[in-house]
Amino acid sequence: MKIVSIVGARPQFIKAAAVSRKLRERHQEILVHTGQHYDYEMSGIFFDGLEMPRPDANLEIGSGPHGAQTGAMLKAIEEVLVVERPDAVLVYGDTNSTLAGALAAAKLSVPVAHVEAGLRSFNRGMPEEINRVMADHLSHLLLCPSDTAVRNLAAEGIFENVHLVGDVMLDVLNWAKQHAGGNGNRPAVLSRFGLSERAYLLATVHRSENTNDVAQLSRIFEALDSLEEPIVFPVHPRTRKMIGEMGFRPRPHLHLIDPVGYLDMVALVGSARSVLTDSGGLQKEAYWLGVPCVTLRNETEWVETVETGWNVLAGSDRDKILRAVNSWNPPDSRPALYGDGAAASKCVDLIAAGLSCDGSR
Ligand code: UD1
Ligand code: UDP
Repeated sequence: MKIVSIVGARPQFIKAAAVSRKLRERHQEILVHTGQHYDYEMSGIFFDGLEMPRPDANLEIGSGPHGAQTGAMLKAIEEVLVVERPDAVLVYGDTNSTLAGALAAAKLSVPVAHVEAGLRSFNRGMPEEINRVMADHLSHLLLCPSDTAVRNLAAEGIFENVHLVGDVMLDVLNWAKQHAGGNGNRPAVLSRFGLSERAYLLATVHRSENTNDVAQLSRIFEALDSLEEPIVFPVHPRTRKMIGEMGFRPRPHLHLIDPVGYLDMVALVGSARSVLTDSGGLQKEAYWLGVPCVTLRNETEWVETVETGWNVLAGSDRDKILRAVNSWNPPDSRPALYGDGAAASKCVDLIAAGLSCDGSR
């Protein structure tokens, strides 16, 4: 089969690292990068660090308002699909690149496979929620990371070609652990930032609900600033911009660093005492690596990490954040979540078996 895979944002490069490798063993893949993320630290670093195939096309769409960005992607992806005439289009997650890829394909009656289907926050104020709902309803093959995701789709009347495969991010994490030689990468990145095992916190913030609201972002930074432990904070460019506009000057324990590559990030998460984040991917990585997570949102799609007692929702509430960091401990047990680390192979098997060229479900 000939498959066009659409990626564009950081977490999609990471997810595609697992799937592309498996896909290319049996099929022809055309990897299309929309250009949604373009700084080296947000894009190229992952292709280098995860030993990924280079994109076959970079559409160089760049940043912009949602409609303009998604519309430009839709137009450019359609042009690629018309030339390539693939058997299927593969999209990941919930970004504007996901929606544009799914919509361009569906309009051309090319079957769509959605990796990470069925996730819901039930918050339509989140741009990602719109993207997920639309992508799922346009897809012919729905590849779900959790039972919850399967149930969410059922509640919206989507039953056919829905498969529980687990999370491809676990495949990538396992790959990274092997390639970092166990703890091999750990001392270098920790010593680069003067950090000791379990004696620092790792924080990231980039969700629009946090970064677009100065009061909300200030509350989060006040909470981080009032903690006494070292905090390493790889700053997303969207957040860097807001920090500049707010004129925020952190105390010395709060290290605002550039975004890091995936292997360094895994090492930083794995050795942290706790993670504070509004990232989807990081909530799961913290869980898999046995590190407690304080989620800086009021809801999560990854509800199982909360149910098992390893993740706490603190929103942007300073007191909740401080209480969670200082006095909450996760339980001893940590059941396996989101599959067995072989999700990518299952996705590829299902793509081969479940997608017909006429676009029927
Ligand atoms: C996007 C996704 C989000 C995902 C995140 C992963 C959407 C709607 N959101 O959010 O789901 O969690 O990626 O990181 O698709 N910028 C740069 N350089 C870059 C990329 C972005 O400076 O390489 C800046 C630009 O000012 C841009 C802003 O960051 O306007 C936001 O980028 P954008 O891709 O629109 O959204 P993200 O917040 O990254
Ligand atoms: N990540 C990374 N370097 C960083 C920040 C994040 O490699 O500086 C990784 C992180 O480990 C996870 C993924 O990027 O695998 C999550 O991406 P992000 O938080 O941007 O998006 P989300 O998962 O929230 O959609």
